[in-house]
Amino acid sequence: MPKTMWKPGTFIYPIPAVMVSCGDMEISNIITVAWTGIINTNPAMCYISVRPTRYSYELIKNSGEFVINLTNRKLAFATDWCGVKSGKDVDKFKQMHLTKQTANFVKCPMIEESPVSIECKVKEIKELGSHHMFLAEVLAIHADEKYIDEKGAFDISKCDLIAYSNGGYYTLDKKLESLGFQYRRKKQIKGNKKMRKIKRLNNNKENGITLIALIITILFSYDEKSKCSNSEGFLLYII
Ligand SMILES: Cc1cc2nc3c(=O)[nH]c(=O)nc-3n(C[C@H](O)[C@H](O)[C@H](O)COP(=O)(O)O)c2cc1C
Repeated sequence: MPKTMWKPGTFIYPIPAVMVSCGDMEISNIITVAWTGIINTNPAMCYISVRPTRYSYELIKNSGEFVINLTNRKLAFATDWCGVKSGKDVDKFKQMHLTKQTANFVKCPMIEESPVSIECKVKEIKELGSHHMFLAEVLAIHADEKYIDEKGAFDISKCDLIAYSNGGYYTLDKKLESLGFQYRRKKQIKGNKKMRKIKRLNNNKENGITLIALIITILFSYDEKSKCSNSEGFLLYII
């Protein structure tokens, strides 16, 4: 099938729609952001791109801090709401009945209802055009303990996270596979092939033994009366 070509645009989906909390414990705000992601592993760095016209923009620029709060099905309404209302008119924490949680390294509150909150410190601001990109270092990650099992493993599938894709919010219902599964599958296929080869060799060995046993039986089963071996008789019979 041919593909339709469109003019340049923003079409890398799915992406997260996060709730970015900013300000401090008294004057705080939440802005929904979809232009966000990881940009470096070590040191852990991420970005958010914000239009300078947003109320949150100055809060983030002035403090140099923000918190990325991941969103799930339960937070979908608040995510959408915080993405259409401005903090200059409403108190988003209050209106959405969200709880402020004290962070460890930044003054901004975390959203308690979010399954994962990420404390970020701005390192650089890139004025790209419509949006200014805040490049930030991750200072700490806070994961809701109800998703952590007794061995300390975090089960992200239980968080019920949502994604944003071309104007819609989506759930991530089913895990397809784990990272590196194609490698494991190749190894498994290789292993299966090896097993089949071993089985074949064993079968050949067994067949060889059966053949030898048959020859021995023929040699020792000479029938005195008919002056031929039983097997000759058998061969005559089946021909
Ligand atoms: C799903 C979604 C994603 C959004 N992503 C961004 C974004 O990446 N950057 C941005 O500046 N605004 C984004 N917005 C718009 C802001 O969240 C919105 O203008 C908000 O009202 C700004 O709040 P504030 O004025 O309190 O800062 C998004 C809105 C929605 C609903």
